[in-house]
Amino acid sequence: MSDTDILDRAILDQPLFETPITRLFGIRHPILCGGLMWLADARYVAAAVNAGAMGFITARTFPDFDAFRAELRLCAELTGGKPFGVNLFISGRAEENAVLDRYIDILADEGVRLIETAGNTPEAFLPKLKAAGCIVLHKVSAVRHGLRAEKAGVDALAIVGQECGGHPGLHFVGTMVQGALAARSFRIPFALGGGIGCGEQLVGALGLGADAIVMGSRMTVASEVWAHADYKQKVLATTEADSRLVMASFRNTYRCLDNTAARAVAELEAAGERDFALYMPHVRGTNARDAYTTGDWERGILSMGQSAAFADAIKPVADILAEILTDAARARDRMDRLRPPAG
Ligand SMILES: Cc1cc2nc3c(=O)[nH]c(=O)nc-3n(C[C@H](O)[C@H](O)[C@H](O)COP(=O)(O)O)c2cc1C
Repeated sequence: MSDTDILDRAILDQPLFETPITRLFGIRHPILCGGLMWLADARYVAAAVNAGAMGFITARTFPDFDAFRAELRLCAELTGGKPFGVNLFISGRAEENAVLDRYIDILADEGVRLIETAGNTPEAFLPKLKAAGCIVLHKVSAVRHGLRAEKAGVDALAIVGQECGGHPGLHFVGTMVQGALAARSFRIPFALGGGIGCGEQLVGALGLGADAIVMGSRMTVASEVWAHADYKQKVLATTEADSRLVMASFRNTYRCLDNTAARAVAELEAAGERDFALYMPHVRGTNARDAYTTGDWERGILSMGQSAAFADAIKPVADILAEILTDAARARDRMDRLRPPAG
């Protein structure tokens, strides 16, 4: 939006686009706010849901099962009973997935039916999720992984390009290419993400054939995200050139903020270091939680993508989404105006 535009939240009340994903998830807008480790809690997810989008409480964020259950109950209260989602990260290490069965029991028990899985293939958990009546969207960074999940029976996919915060995969394929290839390859509905943070890109993604967008980085400065204001100020100051790719040498690439921890990891990788113990002080997951708590953003590998460039102020989720939809409506009108006159 330009500086002179007046933001009108009324745009959230009417659908601008109807797609297979808006229908599948029962949402007004084709916007998914993807799981955010440590950050996607009830308050954030409820704000997305109440604005007509979908959000996913990130299960692994909570210290124990009771805290996870309490968060689901809080979210149900904050949304007034509207459906919301849960993100389940499937680890490559089987021992780290032992908790997932219990998460699924709890979410099913609490009436959650919308699931975003990510990481490894969700195949092993699909029977249980399906038995609980869940709709499963699996997020991938490569078309071939999406095809495997489609074959395994997920209901929808999300595919992210290399611009994304978090895990861009191993081959660094851009979002523009992922979207068009996915549209040619997937039979089930899919969302597109990676570097998406404004309404023009939403229209672009739908134009490519996607049924929704999935965003992470752009949302980290939302008022409802509990992280320290110093961290959000750092995100606001972050340009499209300020993220860094690390851990590719371990086949577990992250796009993250270019901070002291990320540079230390990059130096170890450049030196050819293979001893994971030397990386641990920098990459330990709880470092990120501590950084969000204290605002010391130099600590930890803090997932962040190129779309941080679109973050312009700390403001409510509803305002960010209203802005995106306002720009999307304008981009859609522009497409109409580009039609040559008939005859
Ligand atoms: C701070 C942060 C934490 C994230 N944590 C998770 C996570 O725990 N699970 C997950 O599936 N995706 C996670 N993601 C990825 C997002 O859900 C989403 O797929 C991605 O951010 C989309 O790309 P974008 O950052 O360019 O918007 C995270 C992203 C960010 C920025």
